[in-house]
Amino acid sequence: MNKDNKSIIYLDRNENQYGPAPACFDVLNNINPVELYEYSRDFSRGIKSRLTERLASDFGLEEKNVMVGFGGEDILKQAVHCYIHKGDKIMIPAYSWWYYKKISDEVEGVKVEYPIVEGKDTFYYDIEGMLKVYEEQKPKLVLISSPNNPTGNRLEIDQMMYVLDKMKDTVVVLDEAYTLFYNKDNSHLKELVKKYPNLIIIRTFSKYYGLAGIRIGFALMGENHATFNMFSARYLGYNRVSELIGLAALDSVDYYNNMREKMTADMDMFFNEFNNMPGFRAFKSYANFILVEIPVEIKDGLKKYLTERNMIVKFMAEDGLFNHLRITIGTQEQNRLLMSMIKAYLNENKK
Ligand SMILES: Cc1ncc(COP(=O)(O)O)c(C=O)c1O
Repeated sequence: MNKDNKSIIYLDRNENQYGPAPACFDVLNNINPVELYEYSRDFSRGIKSRLTERLASDFGLEEKNVMVGFGGEDILKQAVHCYIHKGDKIMIPAYSWWYYKKISDEVEGVKVEYPIVEGKDTFYYDIEGMLKVYEEQKPKLVLISSPNNPTGNRLEIDQMMYVLDKMKDTVVVLDEAYTLFYNKDNSHLKELVKKYPNLIIIRTFSKYYGLAGIRIGFALMGENHATFNMFSARYLGYNRVSELIGLAALDSVDYYNNMREKMTADMDMFFNEFNNMPGFRAFKSYANFILVEIPVEIKDGLKKYLTERNMIVKFMAEDGLFNHLRITIGTQEQNRLLMSMIKAYLNENKK
């Protein structure tokens, strides 16, 4: 939490309020000054970073199939800037992180949306609809987000492979920034990278590992991305302190498993509580946030009420999601406080 905003609770940008594992703080407390005053020499060892080396070994890949960047944000931007030129088509989910459209606009790409459909208590990818758009539009690059922000839905691995089989000749960027909150199993990654040479899977230390501030994201990429690998290389290295913190996070499995259990329990709490409140509807989510439709008449009042109490959640304002909140799952204490504030507001404003 920022010292200037001590009392404000931010549940609006999907940051992980539990913060990183203690081992990450040990890195900062014991930093060797050489990490600060010298560049990394990893490049002369034939690798990009000690972090790409470690991730490759964890996932059973070669180092050349792993890339790091300044957050998933940076890798997404680099992929789009490397592969999309003016007039090229880029497929984007109908509901998605606004940034996808922004980076497409930066290179004057042509955005083609594909459907995400609203069900009773879940959003889902309309897979056949998505493939139809793909066949008709013949895009140069496809962006898929699983779990998707802000809808929270994901593609199961068999669905993913079904889609990737059909799109195997096209660059597919699969944004898995939020996947670890619900999916401990990384065993599919090696298979996907080996089987689909045009695939780029993006992950990040920002969300699950509670390290948004160190700005490290990484990509696992198939064999056809040698040029992209070169495009993104930083010969003087990356942020050495961030690399060490990331390595410490990867070693802290128990800390994060414990955190995941608490967050999953609170996700269930939000889902059940909201779905039992008249006029509210929560959608199943596999990320660290939940999308909730609220009665239209309380939107402005509730926003004011929560903001005055230093509780910030995201009030959506886009087509199809106008009466929706996106709530980041915070700590147990923060989640209970938010729930009690919403109930208090409803109580005070009963008709
Ligand atoms: C869907 C999605 N992908 C990627 C990111 C990028 O996060 P970072 O740049 O911190 O890795 C975000 C951040 O909110 C996101 O919502």
